[in-house]
Parts: sequence; C-alpha cells; structure tokens
Amino acid sequence: MPDTHAPALLDRLAAILGPRGLLTEAADIAPHLVDWRNLYQGASPAVARPGSVEEVAAVVRLCAETRTPLVPQGGNTSMVAGATPDATGRTIVLSLARLNRIRDLDPADMTMTAEAGVVLKAAQDAAAEAGCLFPLSLGAEGTATIGGVLSTNAGGNTTVRYGNARELMLGIEAVLPDGSVWNGLRRLRKDNTGYALRHLLVGAEGTLGVITAAVLRLFPRPNDTATAFCAVADEDAALALFRRFRGRDEAAVRAFEYMSGAGVDLAVKHIEGVALPLGARADHYVLVDLASPRPDAGLRGMAEAVLEEAFEAGEVLDATLADSDAAAKRLWRIREEHPEAQKREGASVKNDVSVPVSKVPEMIRRCSAALVALIPGSRPVPFGHIGDGNIHMNLEQPEGMDPAAFLARSHDIMDCVNAIVRDLGGSFSAEHGIGRLKTDMMESWRGGPELAAMRAIKSALDPLGIMNPGKVLP
Ligand code: FAD
Ligand code: MLT
Ligand code: ZN
Repeated sequence: MPDTHAPALLDRLAAILGPRGLLTEAADIAPHLVDWRNLYQGASPAVARPGSVEEVAAVVRLCAETRTPLVPQGGNTSMVAGATPDATGRTIVLSLARLNRIRDLDPADMTMTAEAGVVLKAAQDAAAEAGCLFPLSLGAEGTATIGGVLSTNAGGNTTVRYGNARELMLGIEAVLPDGSVWNGLRRLRKDNTGYALRHLLVGAEGTLGVITAAVLRLFPRPNDTATAFCAVADEDAALALFRRFRGRDEAAVRAFEYMSGAGVDLAVKHIEGVALPLGARADHYVLVDLASPRPDAGLRGMAEAVLEEAFEAGEVLDATLADSDAAAKRLWRIREEHPEAQKREGASVKNDVSVPVSKVPEMIRRCSAALVALIPGSRPVPFGHIGDGNIHMNLEQPEGMDPAAFLARSHDIMDCVNAIVRDLGGSFSAEHGIGRLKTDMMESWRGGPELAAMRAIKSALDPLGIMNPGKVLP
C-alpha cells in the first residue's frame, strides 16, 4: 500500500476537488472518523467532498491508480460502522454530501431522481410538495442519505407496507471501482436485461462502487391517517393485534412497531418532551400507523373498532388514538427516540435480527431470558419492526457496571442471541447490514457457495480491493 499521506496524493485530490472539496484539518475530519455508536475510531488523511459525478469518478480513478482505499460516506449513521475508515490512516473518506440535488420529480411516472447526498427527509419533503409520497422512514431520516439507505438496503418503519429501500429503487447511477461512470438511471417498472447490476449495488455497503444517484419510486400521498399507541398484554398479543389490523385492511397498515416497557421507560427518562401517553405503565406496547390515499377511508373508525375487539379479547390493555398530526408525531417520537435513549443510558449491544413473523414472541422471550442469564442485571430492550419479524434485540448494560467491561462481552451477547435466532430460522442481520461489526459472522452464516459467489463478485468488480475494504466480506 502507498502512503496516502504523501503530499502528492493530497495535492492531486485538491487539484480535482478545489478548496471546497477537500478537508484535511484534523478538526474538520474528526466527525467522519467515528461511527454513530462510538464503537470504532478510524483515521484518514482527508475527506474528499466531490461536487459532481465527474469529480467522484476522478477521485476513484486516482485511488485506483495509487491503490488508495476509500470509504464512501453519506450521513454516517451506520449502526455497524460501515462508513468508518480503519485505523491505518491510509483510507480516504469519500463524502457524498455535496451531491444533494433532486434532479427530477415526475408525478406522472411516480418517480424521483435524487443524488446520493440528498438527505432522506429532504427526499420525503420533495415528494410531499409534489403531492406524492416517498415512504422510506427511519429514526435517522434527518441525517441519513439516499446513497446510504440504498447502500445498506435500509428497512425502517414502513417496510411492512412499502418494502425495503431496494423495493423503492428503479435505477442507479454509480461510479465503479475503476472510476468508470455507469448510468443506469432508467425509470422502468420492467427491465429484464441480464444481471441486475442495480440490485448488486443496493445493499453492497459501498464495497462494489459509489452510488451517485438513483431513480426512486413514489406513491400516492395519504389523505387519511390514524395513529394509535397501545399497551398490549404480551408479545403474542402484539402479534395478534397486527393480524387483526392486517386482516381488516392490509394496504392501510403503514407501520406496526413493538416496544418493550423497558424501552419506553428509557425514552421517557432521557428524551425531553417524551411522555407516556397512557394512564399506566405496561411491559409491552405497539404503535400502529394507518394511511390511505382515500380521503374517505375512515381509518380512525376502523382503528377504534379493531382496538375495541382486541380490548375485549384481552390483547389490548389500553390505547390512545392521535387526534392531530402533532399528536401523532408525539406518539412516533416515543418509538423514534429509542436508539438515542439507549445511547444515553450507557453501553448497549445491538442485535438487529429477524425471524419469521410468527416466531417473534418466542424469540423475544427466549433471548431475554438467555441474556439475563448470561449477564445478570443486564436489561433486554427488544423493540422494532414486529410486522416484518425484525426486532432490535438490544441489551443495556447492568446499572453501575463499567461500560467497557460490558462492551467486552459484545460478542458473547451477539452469539447468545444469534444461536436462538438461527434455531428459529432467522437472520443475524435484518436491516443494518454487516459493515465492520459483523464481518466475522459471515463465514458461519453465509459460508459455502453463497460467500464464494459474493467473493467472486467482489473481485470481478473491485480487483484492487480499494472499495471500503474490511467491510461486509471477512
Ligand atoms: P452511512 O452511515 O454514511 O453509510 C452506510 C454504508 O453505506 C457504509 O457502508 C457506506 O460506505 C455506504 N455508503 C454510503 N453512501 C454511499 C454511496 N453513495 N455509495 C456507496 N456506498 C455508500 N437502518 C434501518 O435499516 N432501519 C432503521 O429503522 C434504522 N434506524 C436508525 C435510527 C438511528 C437513530 C440511526 C443512527 C440509524 C438507523 N439505521 C436504520 C441505520 C442506518 O443504516 C441508516 O440510518 C441509513 O441506511 C444509513 O444512511 P447514511 O447516509 O447515514 O449512510
Ligand atoms: C431503529 O429501528 O430505531 C433502529 O434500526 C434500531 C436500533 O437502534 O437498534
Ligand atoms: Zn430498525
């Protein structure tokens, strides 16, 4: 490997990018070198901030020529340290932040062409201004970018209705590892023309190329909504309620989220303005969000009827329905602030796992018991996208324990959860991806022909191994 500190490399980058396009001061670079969870501290001589696709291509060509590793970065909200460079100090961070134009929005085709650095919330707002909906929604939407959500194939709160990021993408423009620009910005609903390169780049976590723009699918804007926050009897009751709503009107169920009492307690404790909207605390809650483009869908009445039935069946203990958009936002905050509240409480280990939806209650119960047996005093905080079978089976450190000592047990904790998840036919990585955190699990979960094919794809597209090395593949 060459020494990327070599002034020649930085001079050449500066010549490509101009004064706005290259950060080299330690203070400017620092936020780009640590992951959201503060688990990994990386090092880098520079953050490249290209302002055009041509500049991205020129940077990648220079990195290929000099064999310099690079890590693409969007909002740097990865939960698995996917956008963090390693500690060698050789890797260039390639920030897509300045590629932030919405190039086109077409309400007839129901598509939006957005550059990689467009923040997810800005994409949602642009769709709304045009009377449409871009449905992808997650807690980090004010920071995460289109390039990042596609590269991780993010899921989030609305997967249950609209699918993961992959299902919301029709076309991609990318700079491949040799610096060539591939324009696949086709806005076609049908396009069977050989291997689907666009789908290889989605979920590749920056290891196969740099996404510079994408054609995204839009949907009709909701004209009727209803949001309910419910205390439920247990995990089975949460799932039974999901079935009730789905049975009544599957298309209207935009989100169905589970929260444990422990998670809601932490959100109330740490986040200003978050309060329990029910009279009494419970051990299990769900947030149901309904939406329909039909103004006369009568979703509030439907929600009341379903909740009444579920109350009589003993599944729902108490519930509140938002009576305004502001009230709905307040209910959503309880759920959305879960990651931040857990961070403020102390060290926590995340287990972003999925199982068949029917197995979620068993998974939560078995994992919670096994984790407390593994680390007495530790606090399981399961929450998340129960409608997709994706629960964040997170574990908060015991009160008073040294955070470092708790984090030293991370792999034991993940192994403990993963053994149960495997037994239930699930996945060790539902929506956050592999990044740097989970590469060592790939061999045991995906080893054999599947991993061999992934390696072959990687070496075919990135023979020099410069694209986000050390991520995804062990
Ligand atoms: P980054 O963190 O910058 O990068 C993520 C990965 O993509 C890295 O491997 C990076 O190298 C690569 N990458 C970024 N941009 C590009 C590009 N243009 N081309 C090629 N590769 C690129 N995820 C979910 O799926 N569901 C959730 O509900 C969810 N909730 C979250 C809540 C919070 C509070 C936080 C902090 C994170 C959450 N995440 C969630 C995790 C995270 O995956 C998403 O926030 C998002 O997908 C990452 O977008 P980003 O722009 O921050 O990407
Ligand atoms: C979320 O759904 O809020 C994040 O994906 C979860 C997490 O913090 O583990
Ligand atoms: Zn999630």
